[in-house]
Order: sequence, then C-alpha cells, then structure tokens
Amino acid sequence: MSLIPPPLSLYVHLPWCVRKCPYCDFNSHEGRGPLPFDAYVDALLADLDHDLPLVWGRTVQTVFFGGGTPSLFPAEAIDRFLQGASARLRFAPGAEITLETNPGTTEHGRFESYRAAGVNRLSFGIQSFDDGCLQRLGRIHDSGEAEAAVKLAQDAGFDNFNIDLMYALPGQSLAMAEHDLERAFALQPAHVSHYQLTLEPNTVFAARPPEGIPDEDAGWDMQEHCQALLAEAGYAQYEVSAYARPGRQCAHNLNYWRYGDYLGIGAGAHGKISLGHDDRILRRWKHKHPTRYLADAGTVAAIGGDDAIDPGRRPFEYMLNALRLVEGFRLRDFEARTGLPGHTIAPALEAGIARGWLARQDDRIVPTDEGRRLTNDLVSLFLEG
Ligand SMILES: C[S@@+](CC[C@H](N)C(=O)[O-])C[C@H]1O[C@@H](n2cnc3c(N)ncnc32)[C@H](O)[C@@H]1O
Ligand code: SF4
Repeated sequence: MSLIPPPLSLYVHLPWCVRKCPYCDFNSHEGRGPLPFDAYVDALLADLDHDLPLVWGRTVQTVFFGGGTPSLFPAEAIDRFLQGASARLRFAPGAEITLETNPGTTEHGRFESYRAAGVNRLSFGIQSFDDGCLQRLGRIHDSGEAEAAVKLAQDAGFDNFNIDLMYALPGQSLAMAEHDLERAFALQPAHVSHYQLTLEPNTVFAARPPEGIPDEDAGWDMQEHCQALLAEAGYAQYEVSAYARPGRQCAHNLNYWRYGDYLGIGAGAHGKISLGHDDRILRRWKHKHPTRYLADAGTVAAIGGDDAIDPGRRPFEYMLNALRLVEGFRLRDFEARTGLPGHTIAPALEAGIARGWLARQDDRIVPTDEGRRLTNDLVSLFLEG
C-alpha cells in the first residue's frame, strides 16, 4: 500500500484586517498605518520558492486567498502574486481561485480588477443582515453595505460567490436567523457557509461573553430550521457548515476535507503534502506574526515547524476531515490518501456502524445524522491504540 499524491491546492494567507472582530481567533491583525502590500507579495513569492521542492511537477487545482481580509489588498498586488505563482507552478485550466472579501473594504472598480487578475470566486464575510447583530459582532459594515458590495461584484461578472453567515448570535431569535437567510437568498449566491458562533479561547468574546447568546437548544433549533430553508432554496448541504447549488461546492475546501494536499504560504499558513516516494505526509507551518514573516519569508527561519504524520495518526486525521462531508468516503480513497490498508480501520468502522453513527451506502461509508451530531465521539473511534 502506498501513498498516491492527491490533488494539490494552494492556500495564501493575508493577515491584516481593518479592525479585529471580538469573536475571531484567526491569524488576523489590525493594520495600523499603510500596509506593506508590495513587500508582502515579495515575501509570499519567496516563501513559495522555498516550498516548491515539495511539489515538483505537480499541478495546482485551486487557490484560496484567506485571512485576515484579503480584499484589503489592491488588485495589482493579487495580480502580481498570481502571475508570479503561475510562473513557478502549473495551474490546472479553469483552476478555482477564491478571494475572501469583507464588505467594508470594497470600492467601485476593485472587483473588475480582481477578475482581470484571475480571481473567479469570492467569499463574502457578511455574518448577518441585521444591523444590531452586526454592531454587536463589532463588524465594520452594515447590511446595506454588504448588499451593495455583493451587487458591485455581480456587476463585475462574479456569479460564483459564497456568503458567510453566522447564527446563534447575541440577541438573535430564530425568526432573525431565518430572515438572514432570506436576505442572503435574494442575492443569489452560489454557496452559503452557515456557522454557529463559537466562543473561541483567547478572544474578547471568550473573556467577556456578550449577553443574549441563544442556549444550546435554541442553537440546535436554529440549525434545523435553517438547514430546511437552505434545502428548500436549492442549497444542498455537503459539509457541516457548507451548502451549495448543484456543481458549486467549494473545490478548495473539498480538497481539504477529502484529505488532499495543499501548500500553505503566508504568515501562519499551514500546508500538508504527501511525499509518495518515501511514504511520508508532511505538515509545515509558517511563523504567525506578519512582521517576523516579512523579515524571514523564503528562509528556514520562517518555518514554524515541520511535522511528519505518523501512519498511526493518519486514520484519525483522515476521519476528522472526511466525516465532515455528507458524502463520507470510499475505502479505496482512504487507502490512497493515507497509504494504509483498509483493514486497519475495520474495527473502528464496525464500532461506528454498531452505534448508528456510520452507515454503508453502496461503496461509501457515510456519517448518519446522529454521527454528525456526535462528530467528536465518532472521530475518536479512529484514534491510535
Ligand atoms: C477568516 S473569516 C474570513 C472572512 C473575512 N475576514 C470577514 O470576516 O469578513 C471566515 C469566516 O469564519 C467565520 N467565523 C469567524 N470566527 C468565527 C467564530 N468564532 N464562530 C463561528 N464562525 C466564525 C465567519 O463567518 C467568517 O466570515
Ligand atoms: S474581519 Fe474576518 S478575519 Fe478579520 S477579525 Fe473579523 S472575522 Fe477575523
């Protein structure tokens, strides 16, 4: 049994935001003064050069500019990066290229230029269309600006875009969560990401939780009702928080969840690469702080760590991703992606099926509704020893 190199993606982290949101634990930093966009693009390309030997000869299927707030970057910077990257790496024809966008950072003309640079998919961080909720979340835009930003993008020819919404927000009722979805549907997104607000450690919200967060039962209720609304509107759930119109799933995120490979460049970015020739799976991450990253990118000093994933840990890691997907996985995919024979997970699979958390569907193994509710318990069946 050996590792077969899976599809390859490229993740690019752009770490600055106008203002840090109180619920957010992403590697994002409030930009003070003019941001060093040009120097950061130079750093990204040097970082990419340094990682290239890990992926010689392979083709990039998807690119994702995540943040932070990538839409703070001028289109010229995105263009220079994409030109530099495509001179170094082969891009698949029609490769999906996504850019995360905060509606508080958009201006007329910018979307045309992103499109001309090669971006063909946008992901809008909208969170809610209720101005009170947006304020309590510390967002820099209101609902009108969010709608205006989406319309500008549509006018520039973007029809493949996602809207991020969060639910179980402070002061939010079920009717308000449903109304958020109705407002989103009116904009005709190809994709909706619908996240339950979590109080992440080391955030302002974790230290001082805001009043009026719906309790667990109310959160479940919102999730169930919203799932039904999304389905009725033609958005099929394909992952815990992801819903898409037919053919509009996010290819980049699907590659993560199918345990594909990805290079991660930029401050704090993580990568995972299968090295088939010596049966290794390598995780590599970069230093988090933008200032340090800018100084060190392209040298070993920028690497926060390299970690080989032991064969014993691979089943757990694989399931952590694949069991988020409604489609589940096939045993032969598990074998190709982990380099392990299928029988290594037979006892855990049987235990999952016996508990009603997993089911066989033709040649696939899929999580049941209960399995998806109890993801942590389900996935821990695949822990080593
Ligand atoms: C890295 S953010 C990128 C979007 C962009 N920076 C913005 O906020 O407009 C990706 C998405 O994760 C979600 N998210 C961030 N923090 C969260 C939290 N604590 N709980 C649930 N969802 C969260 C939000 O929906 C956010 O749009
Ligand atoms: S804009 Fe997005 S990445 Fe930046 S702090 Fe807010 S949620 Fe986090």
